Amino acid sequence: MDVFREQILKADMIVFVTPLYYYGMTAQLKTVIDRFCSRNFSIQQKHLKSALLSVAYNSDDWTFESLESHYDTLIRYLNLEDKGRILGYGCGTPSMTRFSKYPDEAYEFGKNLK
Ligand SMILES: Cc1cc2nc3c(=O)[nH]c(=O)nc-3n(C[C@H](O)[C@H](O)[C@H](O)COP(=O)(O)O)c2cc1C
Repeated sequence: MDVFREQILKADMIVFVTPLYYYGMTAQLKTVIDRFCSRNFSIQQKHLKSALLSVAYNSDDWTFESLESHYDTLIRYLNLEDKGRILGYGCGTPSMTRFSKYPDEAYEFGKNLK
């Protein structure tokens, strides 16, 4: 985590990437975020850019509501500047994702980041 923290503080953007697990982020990503704790102030001061990338099996319009709400609260607290989110509805397996529109959307999103 010491290595991650140094990298985060050297970067100008944090991209949160997670499959949707029980309508939230994975425990693995949450564990990393929990370890931001001792550096909250340094992160807040940097005003980093941020983005959210996720995939889920379901396609209901409310699929990502909880994850987005958590992300919105996190970026508010950590003083991050949201640059956008790619939310892959109906992406339950690697091939479902590969044949969806989302890889292109993510590519364009990355390419157009300023
Ligand atoms: C433990 C677990 C929980 C999941 N929870 C949800 C969920 O709440 N809603 C949903 O639409 N998909 C859910 N899924 C499906 C995953 O979001 C989807 O299959 C994703 O593509 C899996 O990515 P992965 O292969 O990297 O784990 C879940 C899958 C797993 C394994």
